[in-house]
Amino acid sequence: MSSSNPQFLRRDFLGGALAVGTVALTAPQAAFASDQSPLLGPILGHSDDVSAMVWMRAASAGEFTLEVTPESGGEAVVRKERAVEENDLCLHWRVTGLEPSRRYRYRILQGDRVIVGDAEQILTTAPNTDTPARVRLGVSSCAKEDAGSREVWKRMAEQDVDAVVLIGDTPYIDSTDLAKQTQGHREFAAVPEYQALLRSRPCWWTWDDHDFAGNDSSGLAIGKENSRLVVTRYRPQLQFGDGKGGIYTSFRRGPIEVFLLDTRWYSMTEPSFAGSHKPTMLGANQWEWLRRGLLESTAPFKLLACGVIWDDKQNSESDDWGTYKHELTAIQKFIGENKISGVILIGGDIHASRVLRYPTKKTVGYELVQFIASPIHGSTIPSLNVYNADLVRSAVEPHVFLRIDADARVEPAEFRATLINKNGETVFSYRLTAAELRDKHSQQSFGVE
Ligand SMILES: [Fe+2]
Repeated sequence: MSSSNPQFLRRDFLGGALAVGTVALTAPQAAFASDQSPLLGPILGHSDDVSAMVWMRAASAGEFTLEVTPESGGEAVVRKERAVEENDLCLHWRVTGLEPSRRYRYRILQGDRVIVGDAEQILTTAPNTDTPARVRLGVSSCAKEDAGSREVWKRMAEQDVDAVVLIGDTPYIDSTDLAKQTQGHREFAAVPEYQALLRSRPCWWTWDDHDFAGNDSSGLAIGKENSRLVVTRYRPQLQFGDGKGGIYTSFRRGPIEVFLLDTRWYSMTEPSFAGSHKPTMLGANQWEWLRRGLLESTAPFKLLACGVIWDDKQNSESDDWGTYKHELTAIQKFIGENKISGVILIGGDIHASRVLRYPTKKTVGYELVQFIASPIHGSTIPSLNVYNADLVRSAVEPHVFLRIDADARVEPAEFRATLINKNGETVFSYRLTAAELRDKHSQQSFGVE
């Protein structure tokens, strides 16, 4: 749990007093004069088959131009954005009208001066969603700016992942203070290997407790608006929650759609949609968004990814799906009742990596599988690798990421998750097919088993 200083107690919706961690003191923006901070980025954020987002923190205020040109030649798409101190000089460009599965080079100019040349910046759009395709993702959690974490960024690049998904404690900040949040995001974005990885690969992020507010923090954390504000500046996402709160978002890349859940912002803040006398994890708006997204998704594999694990950690902390079992049950029922195929759970947080396969045929229609990927840094927690009857793989290994390979060019579509360490070695691997992840009795089942 976080600090229990009574000065910072808030009441939960049932009237109980909860400790919510360190207080947030909003620092004046002037604390970050631009000359104190170098240019950061560029890095790539949300992209799909026809659009892409590019982020950079400028070294000074002014207008900056992004030029995106097809690698095979052709006309450049040009976008201009203005870096202003009020936004901590963070620039977000969004380019639309691109072609699917196409490689582009991009460069950034200030006036006529080239700030970032196009020698190494490659932007690749996603395949058209109607076309059976393959994709490779790098997924993990819990990163610092240390040498071991840097090795993981290098391995992800070496393994040629198409996109990166970071699910929290990326980075560790442990405060909602605006100055500390800003500093934390700056230091994280300044790591050369991180920049090298993401300047040519899109990344999506959600947060866990240490980037949100502090250890085991909930949506009652004072100053969480500061954490969200900095995320909206430093992360080129198309969507941040419902636009007013939260940072949940989703994307489609080849045969995978990833729903990045926000399991912090709303937690404990309102009665649960799955029981009015119980606390919420997702909140009503996110639940509505998730249900709509799952119903509309045509992806063979639908990843529900969040910072926490989809089990009870079995320690004194409450930030896991074990605390919100009623909402996990509601999700499972929803999947089963609506015959939603291909759902896979992804979690982080516990500094151990695991695969669990649950006996959920009755409720879901098939056996749900969870992959836990943690940590990118070197600090493991062997005690959280607890006994579980549903455990099928586990490793307490530092500096790891999950390489996910999905291929819809074969029938049934294949999904393989491989835990890779900083030396590029395979720790474990687990394979699934789309045929295993559908209700055999549903109309959506194609009867190929
Ligand atoms: Fe962590």
